[in-house]
Amino acid sequence: MNAPLAGAELLTRASAGTADRALDAAPTSAGTADSTVDDARLALLLKQRDAIKPLLEARSLTRHFRVRAREGLFGKSATLKAVSDVSFKVYAGKTLGLVGESGCGKSTTARLTLGLTPPTSGDVVFDGEALPARRNNRWRELRQHMQMVYQDPLGALDKRLTVLSQVCEPLDIFAMGTPPERLHRAREVLSEVGLNEAHWHRYPHELSGGQRQRVVLARALIMRPRLLVCDEPISALDVSIQAQVINLLQDIQRQYGLGMLFISHDLKVVRQICDEVAVMYLGRIVEQGPPLALFAEPAHPYTQALVSAIPTLQRGKRHQRILLQGDPPNPIDLPSGCAFHTRCPMATEQCRQQSPTLQTLPDGRKVACLRVATA
Ligand SMILES: Nc1ncnc2c1ncn2[C@@H]1O[C@H](COP(=O)(O)OP(=O)(O)OP(=O)(O)O)[C@@H](O)[C@H]1O
Ligand code: SF4
Ligand SMILES: [Mg+2]
Repeated sequence: MNAPLAGAELLTRASAGTADRALDAAPTSAGTADSTVDDARLALLLKQRDAIKPLLEARSLTRHFRVRAREGLFGKSATLKAVSDVSFKVYAGKTLGLVGESGCGKSTTARLTLGLTPPTSGDVVFDGEALPARRNNRWRELRQHMQMVYQDPLGALDKRLTVLSQVCEPLDIFAMGTPPERLHRAREVLSEVGLNEAHWHRYPHELSGGQRQRVVLARALIMRPRLLVCDEPISALDVSIQAQVINLLQDIQRQYGLGMLFISHDLKVVRQICDEVAVMYLGRIVEQGPPLALFAEPAHPYTQALVSAIPTLQRGKRHQRILLQGDPPNPIDLPSGCAFHTRCPMATEQCRQQSPTLQTLPDGRKVACLRVATA
């Protein structure tokens, strides 16, 4: 990990103007010393970045669920720690990617972010305002600016409504504008997502998967959101149309200046479209930083294993796949110390005792590993 990556880290946070332009000139992968942005300039850019207000801030979000630990009527209940102490910021016009294996807490984090699931502790600040509890009138107002795109477009749509009615519906619910104005706006948004008159009067089952996801997007966009939370938005789609939907999301983001939280198993897409990436393991963020740094030089042993599964992400390096032993531990019975120690090829006795916290490395990246932090 070297200085040029600090420039890339900054690039993830700066929203516009000087910082962005200056950092565009910074090297975008582990570069040479002469391409390094000098320290004084970096310090200045860091200051500028910190002055930019995030659109959304998640602060130490934690969510525990009470679950039945054993089968049967008298089965004991236990606490499942789905999300623990998760913090991040999403900036307008920028995308934060959230990755990690199944069950690590990505969707729960997405729901906490929108206030759909109440946190056990921690909070969310949207545009400088603490997000109130769900069903509170103010939450309903703020929720209009924060929309969700789910994995399964068919499940997200009402099978009984035509495309035009689906897209109009959110405006109808909030009685926004006159009926002709709503229809006009719905047609406008549908055209923005690439659906024309031929699709307006069809039902969801009469559309392709990609067309359905476009309707879902139109439904979200009609509320003119400022934040889009995308939970595996392309994984249910045919590979041939995944790229189209990604391109559309990026066009929409540019047009609306949307902040995006993007959850995906597809690390190549995450690297391509995200400005910052957070890697989760068993409910915690274990590494967070700009994708170019994170994928080129993964610091956490878990990130290293994830990245090694995709050879093409390690350009110019001899590829060696890191195979993790065993399954992830049961989230109702987490291991002591570092939760990853049962599978970590670098684990020591200390890892069994002590729980690592996220530490900031010299390049600005954050990593929760006793061996990286003390290196
Ligand atoms: N309502 C709930 N009640 C009890 N446990 C839950 C609930 N929702 C989620 N969980 C548990 O919380 C953990 C995290 O689930 P979550 O859906 O957030 O994972 P995920 O990372 O989105 O997984 P996937 O990649 O499979 O979608 C899992 O162990 C899951 O079983
Ligand atoms: S703290 Fe120890 S077990 Fe955890 S990731 Fe680091 S080396 Fe592995
Ligand atoms: Mg999920």
